[in-house]
Amino acid sequence: MRLLWAFGVILFSFQQAFAGTEPVIVVNSKEVRPQNQTSATLSCNFTNPVSPVTGHHWEKNGKTIENTKKDGADHYTEYIISKIETNSGKYSCVFHSDPQAKEFIEVKSLPHIVAHKHSENANENDKAMLVCECHSYPLATDWSWRKVTDLGDEDAYIVNGTERYSIKSTPNNSTLIIMDLNNEDAGNYECTGKNELGQAEDIIHLRVRSRLAALWPFLGIVAEVIVLVAIIFIYEKRRKPDEINDDDDSGSAPLKSNSATNHKDKNVRQRNSN
Ligand SMILES: *[C@@H]1O[C@H](CO)[C@@H](O)[C@H](O)[C@H]1NC(C)=O
Ligand SMILES: *[C@@H]1O[C@H](CO)[C@@H](O)[C@H](O)[C@H]1NC(C)=O
Ligand SMILES: *[C@@H]1O[C@H](CO)[C@@H](O)[C@H](O)[C@H]1NC(C)=O
Ligand SMILES: *[C@@H]1O[C@H](CO)[C@@H](O)[C@H](O)[C@H]1NC(C)=O
Ligand SMILES: *[C@@H]1O[C@H](CO)[C@@H](O)[C@H](O)[C@H]1NC(C)=O
Repeated sequence: MRLLWAFGVILFSFQQAFAGTEPVIVVNSKEVRPQNQTSATLSCNFTNPVSPVTGHHWEKNGKTIENTKKDGADHYTEYIISKIETNSGKYSCVFHSDPQAKEFIEVKSLPHIVAHKHSENANENDKAMLVCECHSYPLATDWSWRKVTDLGDEDAYIVNGTERYSIKSTPNNSTLIIMDLNNEDAGNYECTGKNELGQAEDIIHLRVRSRLAALWPFLGIVAEVIVLVAIIFIYEKRRKPDEINDDDDSGSAPLKSNSATNHKDKNVRQRNSN
């Protein structure tokens, strides 16, 4: 018991010693969640730097936030987030000293789930790929998909690897693949992403074109060609009799034939006379 107490005292004094001299960045909050407030102020107070501070800046997800770079020996800096819901991420303040000092503040929000495309078209017998993405911090730890029916029943959740369905999920996104599509697959699909703060969803509308519908453009061209050929054919067919009629109608034709027969007659006569 005595030993334990002595150990505690030593540990406590060590902590005190370090707290007094070690460079440390004190943040107003390690973690920010949207509760009653929609905006948040992040602050960092750099105490006991080992070398002079020449400036500081803020980063979000490892990337420098524009217009946050400031020169000067300030040991204190603030960054205001206007809307936590759409600006969640892993933030950090960075003090320019030797070595650089950095401290993280996690700004967390409900998942922000967005369909990659809100409307998908696919052909019967083909496969459809529906993709939802998570654009928030923390990313989604859990995904689920269901087909939205008018009944709104809870049993419509799609299980991975059943029938023609498969689901591939990463914290970033989730893909629902439906194989061998048929007409009944058309409809609205809801993806739900969950993180430690809660869940959110989005909806994708799937249209399934019948095989025949997929052929329509081709059939259209074929029909066009057939009509064109028919028109040309009929035109040609009509033109020939017209030309013959033209010859028949001309007044010179009978004359010609007359003269021809006359000549013939002459020849015949001549032959006869010989
Ligand atoms: C949010 O507001 C409710 C009442 O409106 C209050 O009881 C609660 O303590 C507040 N929470 C925080 C984190 O401020
Ligand atoms: C920063 O921390 C120091 C030491 O704890 C304190 O004296 C000072 O008031 C703090 N500065 C701000 C702006 O909070
Ligand atoms: C679905 O099942 C396949 C294989 O059966 C697996 O590779 C994949 O990780 C599973 N997806 C999910 C979200 O569990
Ligand atoms: C999420 O996707 C983006 C690109 O869209 C990529 O840069 C990032 O590394 C991914 N994150 C994870 C955790 O896979
Ligand atoms: C989903 O995210 C992973 C990384 O987490 C990425 O490799 C993949 O390409 C993404 N898939 C889609 C369909 O965007």
